[in-house]
Amino acid sequence: MRGGPVLAVDGPAAAGKGTLAKRLAAELNLPYLDTGLLYRAVGRLVLDAGQDPAAPAEKFARTLKVEDTQRKDLRTQEVARAASQVASQPAVRSALVETQRRFAQARGGVLDGRDIGTAIFPDADVKLFITASPATRALRRFVQLGEDPKADGATARLAEMTAALQARDAADAGRETAPMQVAADAVVIETDTLSADAVLAEALRVVRERLGTHAS
Ligand code: CDP
Ligand code: CDP
Repeated sequence: MRGGPVLAVDGPAAAGKGTLAKRLAAELNLPYLDTGLLYRAVGRLVLDAGQDPAAPAEKFARTLKVEDTQRKDLRTQEVARAASQVASQPAVRSALVETQRRFAQARGGVLDGRDIGTAIFPDADVKLFITASPATRALRRFVQLGEDPKADGATARLAEMTAALQARDAADAGRETAPMQVAADAVVIETDTLSADAVLAEALRVVRERLGTHAS
């Protein structure tokens, strides 16, 4: 038995999963885990070791702790690419399964990623799939990383960002082990025209419907 409800928040890159999941966790008083940071931390360790992210990376994943997601240097594009490469390795994924399940054991939790509702917690109490068009997501990530879309050369850099994001989505959706996909019982929220507040309101509506009286 788990000590509380599990909410799975999946979706493609820069859709707003983390922003939503963190706010849901605060609203519902549940622990929050950004599972992308686990893969990013493995990617970072691989890069730091001077290793090719395509080479076996299981040893880095085996010893990883949830606390390692607190590293400050995990949000770069280079690390995102390395994360996606190590995430395609079945041994890396299986090394991180128990870490994620254990995280929610005591009190439940809100976890965001790609395979939470399909592979990590197929029995999650609530499953949300947060998405938006590649153009919207690339612009969100561009601004989030401190870029000004109106600056000189921004158009070309934004185009690069869009291409990198789409390449990562294709790899994440196309890999054999735990690919990113919409769980059969997930509620999809298209966020192109929604503010982060509006996404939270819609998600809370779904959560309350699914959890009934458990959600405050
Ligand atoms: O976790 P994920 O990569 O899916 O995205 P995020 O880091 O939560 O969000 C990417 C950026 O989009 C952040 O700067 C958010 O403030 C922004 N955003 C959002 O999360 N939701 C919206 N509906 C609109 C913008
Ligand atoms: O923030 P963003 O959505 O761009 O990426 P992230 O959630 O930090 O995830 C980085 C990479 O880790 C993804 O592109 C996936 O390859 C991988 N990942 C995964 O395979 N499974 C998860 N549950 C979470 C992330």
